[in-house]
Amino acid sequence: MSQLRVWLVGFGVVGRWVASALDAQGGQFAARYGRAVTVVGIGNARDGFSYDPNGLDLSAMLTAAARGRPISEQGGARVWPSAIEGLRATDADLLVEVTASPSAGGEPGLSHMREALQRRIPVVTSNKWPVALRGADLAALARRQGVAFRAESTVMSGTPVLSTLTEGLAGSVPLGLRGVLNATVNRILSQMADGLSYAEALAEAQRVGLAEPDPAADVEGHDTVAKVMILSALVFGRQLRREQVTCSGIAGITGEQARQAASDGGRLSHVATLAFSGPGGTGNVTARVQPQAVPADDLLARVDGATNALVCQASPVGEVTIIGPGAGPQLAGQGVLSDIIAVVRQHSGNS
Ligand SMILES: NC(=O)c1ccc[n+]([C@@H]2O[C@H](COP(=O)([O-])OP(=O)(O)OC[C@H]3O[C@@H](n4cnc5c(N)ncnc54)[C@H](OP(=O)(O)O)[C@@H]3O)[C@@H](O)[C@H]2O)c1
Repeated sequence: MSQLRVWLVGFGVVGRWVASALDAQGGQFAARYGRAVTVVGIGNARDGFSYDPNGLDLSAMLTAAARGRPISEQGGARVWPSAIEGLRATDADLLVEVTASPSAGGEPGLSHMREALQRRIPVVTSNKWPVALRGADLAALARRQGVAFRAESTVMSGTPVLSTLTEGLAGSVPLGLRGVLNATVNRILSQMADGLSYAEALAEAQRVGLAEPDPAADVEGHDTVAKVMILSALVFGRQLRREQVTCSGIAGITGEQARQAASDGGRLSHVATLAFSGPGGTGNVTARVQPQAVPADDLLARVDGATNALVCQASPVGEVTIIGPGAGPQLAGQGVLSDIIAVVRQHSGNS
């Protein structure tokens, strides 16, 4: 049985989680999903790109990374100074792109993904900004090339939102959606409703490893803006520019406001809204991310703590709600793994 050869670019928290999962479960892939998986290339920023057509030793590379040693010191592997050079010089059947690419330009992720798609190599990614900024183009390129482009974990991590909306609801017409898409922010607002100040709730989220030392991407709403742009591109087929999404964060919210909103059974939520004046992403767009007092009879009022929710309106289905955990590297890794398995099934004709 032939192998599905994988390039794994990005060997940080998510990349290593995926490598461990493939190391642990890869042996069962052939029996379960119809095709075995071999990781032939791994890249990071520090050590460049290592490639062995016979398969890299994942366990050795994970051990090296955990010890802070170069992951490129693997016997038998060829090494390039950067991932893009390695991708251009080698071959694979799937790119798993899990670098962290900034909002200004989405590089290096965007170039990695384009390199693969232009060569008819499918792409799985958790990297938000390249998809937020160019998701409609990347998806169109993948369609033209007849290969998959999957980004499940970019929205709600391991909770399957994109596959549900684009595959489970295939054939329906998406009309609009609203949701709570940042678990860290939702937890901070929950704790504020319970009596903590903003500073105390943020410090607590940082203490448990949910919020970054620099929490700006979460609390100022940029992370949620990226997710709104991804949903627009991949579910509605409409590419938004960043400035089309109105955004206000939660740093100015007081404990009093959070408690007041919660006093009648509702709650203060950081709500993402995406709507179009026409069906299926046509017409004028309304895209915003803002704190909002949600009344008790609104489903979003029940979404508490480090949880995410998305309510989608589609015709003729009506309202579909997806609620689930939305934070943590194992969840992001799970979303990537589910996308890899979807590609394996497609390649083995076992979908
Ligand atoms: N962690 C989560 O919970 C989560 C959830 C959903 C989505 N995501 C997204 O998933 C992606 C990965 O997240 P993460 O937490 O794993 O980030 P991370 O720990 O910071 O790892 C990023 C990896 O990308 C590598 N990298 C950066 N520039 C590169 C380049 N030019 N060429 C090759 N590799 C490069 C880094 O290399 P070095 O190791 O050499 O620095 C590192 O290995 C991000 O886009 C993130 O937004 C993460």
